[in-house]
Amino acid sequence: MNRILITSALPYINGVKHLGNLAGSMLPADIYARFERLRGSEVLYICATDEHGTPAELAAEAAGQDVKTYCDEQHELQRAAGEGFSLSYDWFGRSSSIQNHQLTQHFAQKLEAEGLIEERTSRQVYSIDDKRFLPDRYVQGTCPHCDSAKARGDQCDDCGRLLDPTDLIDPYSALSGSKNVELRDTTHLFLKQAAMQDTIRNWVEASVDWPSLAKSIALKWLDEGLQDRAITRDLSWGVPVLKDGKPRPGFEDKVFYVWFDAPIEYIGATIEWAEANGKTWEDWWRTDKGADDVTYVQFMGKDNVAFHTVSFPITLLGSAEPWKTVDRLKAFNWVTWYGGKFSTSQNRGIFMDQALKIAPSDMWRWYLMANAPESSDAAFTLEQFQAVVNSDLANVLGNFVNRITKFANAKFDGQIPDGGTIGELEQKLFAEFDAQITALSAHHQAMDYRKAAAATRAIWALGNEYLAEAAPWTVIKTDPDKAAMIVRTALNMVVMSAIVAQVFIPDAATRVLDAMGVPKENRNWPNQAGSVLLDKLPRRSQFTVPELLFAKIEDEQVAEWSQRFGASPT
Ligand code: MF3
Ligand code: ZN
Repeated sequence: MNRILITSALPYINGVKHLGNLAGSMLPADIYARFERLRGSEVLYICATDEHGTPAELAAEAAGQDVKTYCDEQHELQRAAGEGFSLSYDWFGRSSSIQNHQLTQHFAQKLEAEGLIEERTSRQVYSIDDKRFLPDRYVQGTCPHCDSAKARGDQCDDCGRLLDPTDLIDPYSALSGSKNVELRDTTHLFLKQAAMQDTIRNWVEASVDWPSLAKSIALKWLDEGLQDRAITRDLSWGVPVLKDGKPRPGFEDKVFYVWFDAPIEYIGATIEWAEANGKTWEDWWRTDKGADDVTYVQFMGKDNVAFHTVSFPITLLGSAEPWKTVDRLKAFNWVTWYGGKFSTSQNRGIFMDQALKIAPSDMWRWYLMANAPESSDAAFTLEQFQAVVNSDLANVLGNFVNRITKFANAKFDGQIPDGGTIGELEQKLFAEFDAQITALSAHHQAMDYRKAAAATRAIWALGNEYLAEAAPWTVIKTDPDKAAMIVRTALNMVVMSAIVAQVFIPDAATRVLDAMGVPKENRNWPNQAGSVLLDKLPRRSQFTVPELLFAKIEDEQVAEWSQRFGASPT
């Protein structure tokens, strides 16, 4: 049996995520997990909240809460939002867990023992008015690369470059706004990444199975040359810096950098899962303990790629222990909000909790994956959302299911009809169906989600085309046996349409399969010929007409949502 470990980038704890975050990591990971489970693989899909560092501290401060309380609350909100979107995590953990704290200490110790960590004194931005150092996002200023006035100390959102707080021009405190800042000496642990340059390059070049976006970003970083980097910060919230179980002298007021401990939480969360479920975690993560036959697949937005192709692998490989590293890495560009940025503060865009209040999760899931930001950024607009949902879900799938189940119910007493023999039209349907399923499976395996959605839609459309050509409502007047055969074939097509839809729109697909009386164990990914698959429903078994699958989105709704979520130009 294939064993597949799946992780999606851990969402920062600082508030429920927007649709773009969802589309670039958690949702595609869920689609992949569902696909592999349906194919019979043993899947472990792990996610967690990323709870340390300046994003957490700043957001808690803005919310007027202490960080721990803030994280507890936000974790529950994000868990609920994930559930609302039917994200099928096997575990949704927390990077603040004891398991992650212990593992982070473990890696720091190993890296130090391997000579890859050393103390270095460097100059950091210090705020005289705030009486503290300003690491990462605590300092803002002008980006040295693109002149954006709103760059943060760790990254410029406008040009996407990673930054060091000392790179910023005209720096000021994100806490107080004070420009009264200076550079002061402070000592940190540095990870000697430059020493790992060759190891990492060889590892990246050996990774045949990475989609191109990920690989090109990784190679660009390697071409620029790896820099040693500080893995501790002058902060209080995070994993403390210990030595032999006690605070490391000189590091009493410091913690590990959030980007050091966050990816370790992929393993930490697996341990959380194992302990909660009486399972073992080593066979997922240690190649000396059974993880050598695991395929490890990661999903993330493009700004995360360097951390997953360079930094985290350095942690794993640098420890000189047999840890499992990523086999396939799927990266995404951005979903934009009408071409601009999603922003809570400026009320632009829809966040996961809001989305669920205005439309069922299946609609969002479908739209976001059918328009996944794969080869470039993809603009979300409510108008396009409406158009895609109405045409693909309400018209193509919804109408097909509705039309044939109603007709069959009326003419054949809610039973799968018996009788009749297949003809040329059915042979043609089987052949087209086989071709589409083959294409669809290949797209899922390649993690090409736009193409997978298009092939799924094409299978739904086949059902419609078949019905239109076979016209059972006419045939039944002269040849009831033939009509029975057509209706039976079309009802089987309904089942297959729902089976392949499960990964994208699990709620609606489940409603259809329940109505058709398909037992859970018969809902696996199709792996037989169309001629067999499209004659699976037991003849004379009962079915019911599913309730309306998708109500169309009306113009008035779009108008109202535009007002609410800032779509109209301001
Ligand atoms: N929280 C980060 C972000 O949202 C992603 C962390 S991924 C992990 O960009 F690997 F560090 F966990
Ligand atoms: Zn910039």
